[in-house]
Amino acid sequence: MGCMASSNLPILQALFASLLLLTPKVFSFDCSRTKGSSLSSLEANLSWLSPNQEFAIGFQKLPNDNENHFLLAIWFHNIPETTIVWFAHTKPAPKGSTLNLTDEGTLVLYDPQGNSLWEPSTGGAKSMCASMNDSGNFMLLDGDKNPIWETFNETTDTILPGQTLNMGSNLTARYSRESYANGRFQLHLQPDGNLVLYTVTMPTGAARDAYWATGTMTGNSKLVFNENGNIYVTDGTRWVYNLTKNDAGSSQDFYHMARIDYDGVFRQYHCRKSKACGLKWSVVKRFPEDICSAILTEVGSGACGYNSICVEINEEPDCLCPENYSYLNESAKNQGCRPNFELPSCRLNGWESNLELVEFVEYTNTDWPLDDYDLQIGSGVDLQTCKQLCLNYCFCTVAIHNGNSCWKKKYPLSNGRRKPNVNRTALVKVPKVNVTQLYLVSLRQNNKDQSTTVLIVSILLGSSVFINIVMTSAILIAIYFSYHKKLLNISSVSSVASTNIRSYAYKELEQATGGFKQILGKGAFGTVYKGVLASYPKRFVAIKKLEKFEKEGEKEFKTEVSVIGQTHHKNLVRLLGYCDEGEHRLLVYEYMTNGSLASLLFGITRPDWNQRVQIAFGIARGLMYLHEECSTQIIHCDIKPQNILLDEFYTPRISDFGLAKLLVAEQTRVARTNIRGTVGYFAPEWFSRASITVKVDVYSFGVLLLEMICCKSSIAFGMGDQEQTLMDWVYACYCKKKLDELVENDEDARNDMKKLERLVMVAIWCIQEDASLRPSMKKVTQMLEGVVDVSVPPRPSIYCST
Ligand SMILES: *[C@@H]1O[C@H](CO)[C@@H](O)[C@H](O)[C@H]1NC(C)=O
Ligand SMILES: *[C@@H]1O[C@H](CO)[C@@H](O)[C@H](O)[C@H]1NC(C)=O
Ligand SMILES: *[C@@H]1O[C@H](CO)[C@@H](O)[C@H](O)[C@H]1NC(C)=O
Ligand SMILES: *[C@@H]1O[C@H](CO)[C@@H](O)[C@H](O)[C@H]1NC(C)=O
Ligand SMILES: *[C@@H]1O[C@H](CO)[C@@H](O)[C@H](O)[C@H]1NC(C)=O
Ligand SMILES: *[C@@H]1O[C@H](CO)[C@@H](O)[C@H](O)[C@H]1NC(C)=O
Ligand SMILES: *[C@@H]1O[C@H](CO)[C@@H](O)[C@H](O)[C@H]1NC(C)=O
Ligand SMILES: *[C@@H]1O[C@H](CO)[C@@H](O)[C@H](O)[C@H]1NC(C)=O
Ligand SMILES: *[C@@H]1O[C@H](CO)[C@@H](O)[C@H](O)[C@H]1NC(C)=O
Ligand SMILES: *[C@@H]1O[C@H](CO)[C@@H](O)[C@H](O)[C@H]1NC(C)=O
Repeated sequence: MGCMASSNLPILQALFASLLLLTPKVFSFDCSRTKGSSLSSLEANLSWLSPNQEFAIGFQKLPNDNENHFLLAIWFHNIPETTIVWFAHTKPAPKGSTLNLTDEGTLVLYDPQGNSLWEPSTGGAKSMCASMNDSGNFMLLDGDKNPIWETFNETTDTILPGQTLNMGSNLTARYSRESYANGRFQLHLQPDGNLVLYTVTMPTGAARDAYWATGTMTGNSKLVFNENGNIYVTDGTRWVYNLTKNDAGSSQDFYHMARIDYDGVFRQYHCRKSKACGLKWSVVKRFPEDICSAILTEVGSGACGYNSICVEINEEPDCLCPENYSYLNESAKNQGCRPNFELPSCRLNGWESNLELVEFVEYTNTDWPLDDYDLQIGSGVDLQTCKQLCLNYCFCTVAIHNGNSCWKKKYPLSNGRRKPNVNRTALVKVPKVNVTQLYLVSLRQNNKDQSTTVLIVSILLGSSVFINIVMTSAILIAIYFSYHKKLLNISSVSSVASTNIRSYAYKELEQATGGFKQILGKGAFGTVYKGVLASYPKRFVAIKKLEKFEKEGEKEFKTEVSVIGQTHHKNLVRLLGYCDEGEHRLLVYEYMTNGSLASLLFGITRPDWNQRVQIAFGIARGLMYLHEECSTQIIHCDIKPQNILLDEFYTPRISDFGLAKLLVAEQTRVARTNIRGTVGYFAPEWFSRASITVKVDVYSFGVLLLEMICCKSSIAFGMGDQEQTLMDWVYACYCKKKLDELVENDEDARNDMKKLERLVMVAIWCIQEDASLRPSMKKVTQMLEGVVDVSVPPRPSIYCST
C-alpha cells in the first residue's frame, strides 16, 4: 500500500521556520511558540514545524467536505500523501478558525466567531509556551519548561517512535478512510497488561469482542515504539512480547508509524527517507494477519458489519454486500449491509410464503459462521434440499450448505467471509421481483387488520439494520398477538367493578410516588416506581406506568385489568389497583422487597442450593396456575429472571403476566429490542410458523431452571468465550455424567446429586426443540417434586452436540 492510500491534501509549508533558529534551547525542550502565537486556517500553508522539519501541527482541510471544514492535526511534513498522526477530537472547525496560545497561558481552538471549539485539558495549569518536538510530540510547557500537556499522551489512532502507550490507554480507529470520527475498532492496553484488539459497539464505544491479543498479563506493561522501529510490550525489565521481530530500520533512515486503521487492522508502516524512493509508506507488519477470519463471536457483526461478506484482497480486507443488499453507508463500507427488499418475516402473505416469488442467490466459498438457529444433517441433505429447508422456514434468510449439512440463519447475518478454503455454499433468499409493489397492492385490498403491519413494512423498507432487528422482534410480537388473542379469549368479564381491585386517581398515585421519583426498574411495559399509599397502615407499592398506550384499548384495558385482578396465587405478584385517567394508564402492585431473581442469582453472593430449589418449585407452581388453574388461561410469553420478583420471605412471584395483550406491538418491541440477546429464553417456535402455545413458557422455564441450577446467566454464557450455549454445555455434562461440573464448588448441590440430576433432566425435557415433547407445567411440577419419575430426556435439539 502507498503512503496513506488516498487524499491529495495540500501540505502547509513553514513560514515560521526561520523563527526556530532564533529560539534558544534552554532546558530539555524547545520553546518555539510563545504566548500570543496563533495559527489560522485562513492563511493557507501555515503551520508550526518541529526543529528537524519532519512534523507539523496546523490545520488540514477535511477530505470531501464542501463546507470547508478543518481538522487541527499533526502530520508528517515531508511525505507527499497527507499522513495525519494526531488530531484534536472535536467537531470540524469551520474555515477561519484559529489556534491561539493566549496571553492567559491556554491553548484554544477558536471558531471564526471567537467561540472555543476545543482546549486541551491541563487540569488548570498555565503554559508559558508550546513546542513541537522532533518525534512529533506537541507539548505545552510551563514556566520551568516542563510539559503540562502533550499529544503523545492524547493518543488518537497512531503511535510514533519515541511514544509509549501506558496501561489503560487506547488507540481508536477512525470511522472510515476519510472520516476522523471514532470507528468500530480499538487497540487497548488493558490494566492487566494485555494488549488487545477489540471491536467496539457503536455509538457507545464500549469494547466488545477481542480478536487479537499479546497475552502479556504481566500486571505492569507498556507498549513501546523505539527509534529502531521496534514495537514491543515490556514489563519494565524485559521485552515480553515483540510485535516486530527485526529492526524495521533506524529512524535516521526511515520514517515510522503504527496505526489501527479504520478496517480494524493494526499496521506498522515505514517509509525510507529518500526522495528517490518516492517517500511511500509500506506495511512492515499487520495484526491480525487475516481479520476476516479473526473476528468470530456469537453476537458480533464481524469485520465488515452485519449482512456483509469480508474478503481478504492483497492483504487488505474488503467488504462486500450480497446481491440485492446495499451498504448501510456507501462511504464507510465496513458498517454493514441492508437488504433492498422487505425481509422474510413470517407475516401472512409474505413474499417468502409464495414460492414463485422466492429465489436463492448462490455464493461458493462463503460462510456466515455461528449463530445458526437450526442445523439439518443427513445423507439426503443436498444443495436442493437445503434450499427447500430454508424455503419452509419463513424466518430463514440464508442457508449454508456443505456436504450433508444445512445450516439455517436468521437476520441479521454476522461474521460473513469468503475464502478459497471455506468449503461451504451460501444460499441467500431474495425475492425474484420487486415485491414491494405487489405487497402494497395486497395491503390496500385487506388493510383493515394490518395497520401495524403497514408501519412495520414502511420502516423495514427504509431503515438501518438495527431498526430492522428491532422490527423483526416486532413482527414476532405481532404474531404472538394473533395467537394470544385466540387463547386469551375473554367474553364474560364486563367491568372492573366486579373485582376487588381499586381504581385510583392519577393525583393519588402521583402523591404516593412523590412525583414519580424513585425508579425501581424499567420493564417491557414501562417504568416502575416505588410508592407508598396513604392507607393505614402505610403500604409500599410498585406502580407501573404504562407507556404510549393503544388508543382504542379503553375497553381492553379494563378487561385485562380485571383478568389480572382475578388472578391470585402465592407465586404471582398481586395487582392491587389501577388508574385509567385520560392518557394515564397505571397499575398498582404489591411491593416486592427483595428485588428480582436476576439480581439474586447473578449477584455477588449466590443463593444456596436449597433456596434455589425452593424458588424453582415456586415458579413452576405459579406458571402451572397461569396455564391450568385460573379461569382464563394465560401464556406469560416472557419468563426470565428479571420478571421473577422475590417478596420478604424470598418467595418467588411472577410479574408482568397478562400484560402483553394490553400494548400495541410498537411498545412491546422496545422491550425486546435486542432479540439476539434475549433469544436465550425464546422457544424456537417464535421463529417459525408453528403455533404459540403454553409450551413457550415451558421452554423459557427450562432455560431459567438451568440458570438456577448453575447460577449462570444464559445470556452472559453465550457472550463469553464459549462457542456453546448454556443448554449445549449442560446437555454435554449430562451425557458425560459429569453433573458436578455444573455446580462447581457448591457443596450442598454436590451432596444432593439425586435431586440435581432430576432437576437437570426436567430442564432438558423443558427445552426440547419439539414443543410437543415438552411436558406441561403440571407434569413439570410433579417431576420436580419427585411425585412422578423422570424418564431419560432425548437430545434437546439436533444442533446440540453430545
Ligand atoms: C500552498 O501550497 C500549495 C502546494 O504546496 C501551493 O500550490 C500554493 O501556492 C500555496 N499557497 C500559498 C498561499 O502559499
Ligand atoms: C487569536 O489570534 C489571532 C491572531 O493573533 C487574533 O486575531 C484573534 O483575535 C485571536 N482570537 C481570539 C478569540 O482571541
Ligand atoms: C519528544 O517528546 C517525547 C515525550 O516527552 C520524548 O519521549 C521524545 O524523546 C522527544 N523527542 C525528541 C526528539 O526530543
Ligand atoms: C504523560 O504520561 C506519562 C505516563 O503516564 C506521565 O509520566 C507524564 O507526566 C504525562 N505527561 C504530561 C504532560 O502529563
Ligand atoms: C480505553 O478503552 C476501554 C475499553 O473501551 C475503556 O474502558 C477505557 O476507559 C479507555 N481508556 C481511555 C483512556 O480512553
Ligand atoms: C524481543 O527482542 C529483543 C531484541 O531483539 C530480545 O532481546 C527479546 O528477548 C525478545 N523478546 C521475546 C519475548 O522474544
Ligand atoms: C457515512 O460515512 C461518512 C464518512 O465516511 C460520514 O461522514 C457519514 O456521517 C456517514 N453517514 C451516516 C449516515 O452515518
Ligand atoms: C468440500 O466438502 C465436500 C463435502 O463435504 C467434500 O467432498 C470435499 O472434498 C471438500 N473439499 C475440500 C477442498 O475440502
Ligand atoms: C420497488 O418498487 C418500489 C415502489 O414502487 C420502488 O420505490 C422501488 O424503487 C422499487 N425497487 C426496485 C429495486 O426496483
Ligand atoms: C436483485 O438484483 C437483481 C440484479 O442486480 C436485480 O435485477 C433485481 O431487480 C433485484 N431485486 C430486487 C428486489 O431488488
